[in-house]
Amino acid sequence: MTPVEISGKGFRNRIKRGTIENGDCMSLQRIDKILSSQNIASRSAVKEMIRKGQIMANGKPVKRPDEKFDPEMTEITVNGQNLHFQKHLYLMMNKPQGVLSASRDSHAETVLDLLPPELKRSGLFPAGRLDKDTVGFLLITDDGELAHKMLAPKSHVYKLYQATCDRALTEQDVEAFRQGIRIGELQFLPAEMKIVDTDTALVEICEGKFHQIKKMFHAVGTEVIALKRLRIGGVELDENLAPGECRPLTESEIIALLNREHGNFRKNSCT
Ligand code: URA
Repeated sequence: MTPVEISGKGFRNRIKRGTIENGDCMSLQRIDKILSSQNIASRSAVKEMIRKGQIMANGKPVKRPDEKFDPEMTEITVNGQNLHFQKHLYLMMNKPQGVLSASRDSHAETVLDLLPPELKRSGLFPAGRLDKDTVGFLLITDDGELAHKMLAPKSHVYKLYQATCDRALTEQDVEAFRQGIRIGELQFLPAEMKIVDTDTALVEICEGKFHQIKKMFHAVGTEVIALKRLRIGGVELDENLAPGECRPLTESEIIALLNREHGNFRKNSCT
């Protein structure tokens, strides 16, 4: 599956190649930077490819690595192949246990360490955190704007988790979650819970407070012993992804995230 392209004001369809429409501003970048950002080649390899005449822009050979182009408006070819420029990358990872949701760490393995070379690109970061022992859907992107929209306290993007606890769950627990758990000064918004097995429940929350699911269960007198995120907004974890694997989101999944769609588990609304 190929990653899809998203630009600041919308998808590619606003752009006619080689023209500027509706007052779009060109953003010029060095050709070596453009190609290395797309994992075509390292900046030094691009220099060599330019020397060999392998890179063309709008039908003309590029002469120097510091020549600048707007990658969204320029027909760039590499060895005769059109470059499909992707401004941002959106990856769904099935986060495994024991790995940090961080960009880098001097001691522990992070989710970015797990990316295969063809999906590594500068600027990627996990949009939101899962605890080290939590598994499941983690979004990794280089789109700070989308991440900000999703993570802002008032954004209320729904996230669905499966939690297994250390005791049998009850209808009182469901009701407590529905009312909204309070721990001292800390108030959680109402959350929907569905018991799916004696000790296991699906829980949907629309906030992203630190250790939120574990704290909510702790407040009703049980500890979470396994936690998996199954969905963010309207986008489900792809169960074909083995732990540690990832894939680019499809275009419709990206649109669902941008539109803050949600799944149909929820009954109560979080405003
Ligand atoms: N809530 C938690 O307690 N932990 C997570 O990793 C995510 C939500």
